[in-house]
Amino acid sequence: MSQIFTATADTRLRAALLVLLLAGLGAGLLVGGYMESSYATLVGWVRDQPVPFSHEHHVGGLGIDCRYCHTSVETSAEAGLPPTHVCMTCHSQLWTGAPMLAPVRESLARDTPLAWQRVARVPDYVYFNHAIHLDRGVPCVTCHGRVDQMPLMKRAQALQMEWCLDCHRNPAPRLRPPAQVTRMDWSDWDQHPERHALYGQMMVRLYGIQPSKLDDCGICHR
Ligand code: HEC
Ligand code: HEC
Ligand code: HEC
Ligand code: HEC
Ligand code: HEC
Repeated sequence: MSQIFTATADTRLRAALLVLLLAGLGAGLLVGGYMESSYATLVGWVRDQPVPFSHEHHVGGLGIDCRYCHTSVETSAEAGLPPTHVCMTCHSQLWTGAPMLAPVRESLARDTPLAWQRVARVPDYVYFNHAIHLDRGVPCVTCHGRVDQMPLMKRAQALQMEWCLDCHRNPAPRLRPPAQVTRMDWSDWDQHPERHALYGQMMVRLYGIQPSKLDDCGICHR
C-alpha cells in the first residue's frame, strides 16, 4: 500500500499538531493565571474612601478594639461600619480642624452617613455570617489579614469558594479561644501549633461541628 502523505507533508502535519497543542496549553495557563491573579481575586485591593481612615493608626497605634467600631460583628451576619458619631467621640476633641476630617464633620452636620467603599465582599448569592464564625473562635485576622498594619484597608483574601471550603473541611487547626478573636498578633499561640491542634479538636467536638456537612451547598447558597 502506498503512503497517503509524503514524508515532508507528514512532518508538516506533525508540526502543525504540536503548535495547536501548545497553543491550547498556553491558553489554559493564561485563563488559570487570570483566575489566580490579584486582578481577578482582588487581593491587595485598595479603594478611594471619602476619608483616608487608617486601621494602622487606630488599631495598631491606639489599640482600639474592632468591636468598638464594628459593633454587630459578634451578634449578626454583618460586622457593620461605624456611624459618624462613633468617630466624633474622639474627633470632636482631637484633630477638630483637620482638613482631612472635613467630610466627617460635614457628615455629622448634615446627618448623612459617610459613603465608605466596600473592600471585602462576596457576591449576593453567597450567604455569610460573622456571628457564628466568631462564636466558634475563627479570628478576624484569618479572613481580613493584619488590619493593624494597613494604613488603608485592603483585601487580604480572595474570598473564593475553595478558600471557604478549605477551612470548612478541616476547621480544627484554625480555631482560637473566642475571647481572642479580635487579637491581630498572637505569636505565642501561633508558634505552638501542637497546643492548639489539641484545643481545636476538643472544640470541634464540644461545639458539635461536623466538617463533613460544612461543605453542603445549601449552607452558603440558600
Ligand atoms: C478612640 C478615639 C478615636 C476614634 C473613635 C476615632 N479616631 Fe481618628 N484619630 C484618633 C487619634 C488619637 C488620631 C491621631 C493619631 C496619630 O496621629 O497617631 C486620629 C487620627 C485620625 C485621622 C488622621 C490621619 C491618621 O490616621 O493619623 C483621620 C483621617 C481619622 N482619625 C479618622 C477617623 C474616622 C473616620 C473615625 C471614625 C470611623 C475615627 N477617626 C475614629 C482617635 C480616634
Ligand atoms: C475606630 C474605628 C474602627 C476600628 C477600631 C476598626 N475599624 Fe475596621 N473599619 C472602620 C471604618 C471607618 C471602615 C471603612 C473604611 C475603610 O474601609 O477603611 C472599616 C473597614 C473595615 C473592613 C473592610 C470592610 C469592607 O468590606 O469594606 C474590614 C475587613 C475591617 N474594617 C476590619 C477591622 C478589624 C479586623 C478591626 C480590629 C482589628 C477593625 N476593623 C477595627 C473603622 C474601624
Ligand atoms: C471566616 C471569615 C471571616 C471572619 C473570621 C471575619 N470576617 Fe469580616 N467578612 C468576611 C466576609 C466573607 C465578608 C464579606 C461579607 C459580605 O459581602 O456579605 C466580611 C465583611 C466584613 C466587613 C464589611 C461590613 C459588613 O458588615 O460585612 C467588616 C467591617 C468586617 N468583615 C469586619 C470583621 C471583623 C472586625 C472581624 C473579627 C471580629 C471579622 N470581620 C471576621 C469574612 C470574615
Ligand atoms: C478559617 C475557617 C473558616 C473560613 C475561612 C470560613 N468558615 Fe464558615 N465556618 C467555619 C466554622 C468553624 C463554622 C461553624 C460550624 C458549626 O459550628 O457547625 C462555620 C460556619 C459557617 C456558616 C454557618 C453554617 C450553619 O450551619 O449555619 C456559614 C453560612 C459559613 N460558615 C459560610 C462561610 C463562607 C461563605 C466562607 C467564605 C467566604 C466561610 N464560611 C469561610 C469556619 C470557616
Ligand atoms: C462555605 C461556603 C460555600 C459552600 C459550602 C459552597 N459554596 Fe459555592 N460559592 C461560595 C462562594 C464564596 C462563592 C463566590 C466565589 C467568588 O466570588 O469567586 C461561590 C460561588 C459558586 C458558584 C459560582 C461560580 C463560581 O465557581 O465562582 C457556583 C456555581 C457555586 N458556588 C456552586 C456551589 C455548589 C454546587 C456547592 C455544593 C457542592 C457549593 N457552591 C458550596 C461559597 C460556598
